Amino acid sequence: MDNSVRYENTASSQSIITNHKRLIQDIAALMFNLENQRSPEETNPIVNSLLQSLIEQVRLEDEFMRQVAYPDFNQHRREHIVLLRDYNEFKRIFENCGPSTLISLRMQKIFNLFIDHFQRVDRKLGAY
Ligand SMILES: [Fe+2]
Repeated sequence: MDNSVRYENTASSQSIITNHKRLIQDIAALMFNLENQRSPEETNPIVNSLLQSLIEQVRLEDEFMRQVAYPDFNQHRREHIVLLRDYNEFKRIFENCGPSTLISLRMQKIFNLFIDHFQRVDRKLGAY
């Protein structure tokens, strides 16, 4: 997975890069557990960790965009809201119903949204 998002070397941009790596690790760990039908006890901590790293990523990127008066702030923010909404919906269903083929397919769709966002929208922000 390519996470070569470039930001100027500031403290906030370093936090964005560090948390972005954590977010990608959480996504990879969750996909692994779902594909291998690991138990909810094993997977729930990853589900929670991913939500925390996603919330932190959105917070850090929003802060950075405000600092630099980023022109595409509203569009970028709209995509974050969709990612948070879709992931929270996945989390709610997973916690109620546990692992299944359907929940894996749902997460695969969200996974594709994450990758698309990283490669298209975050990369553009990183190059700003
Ligand atoms: Fe983003």
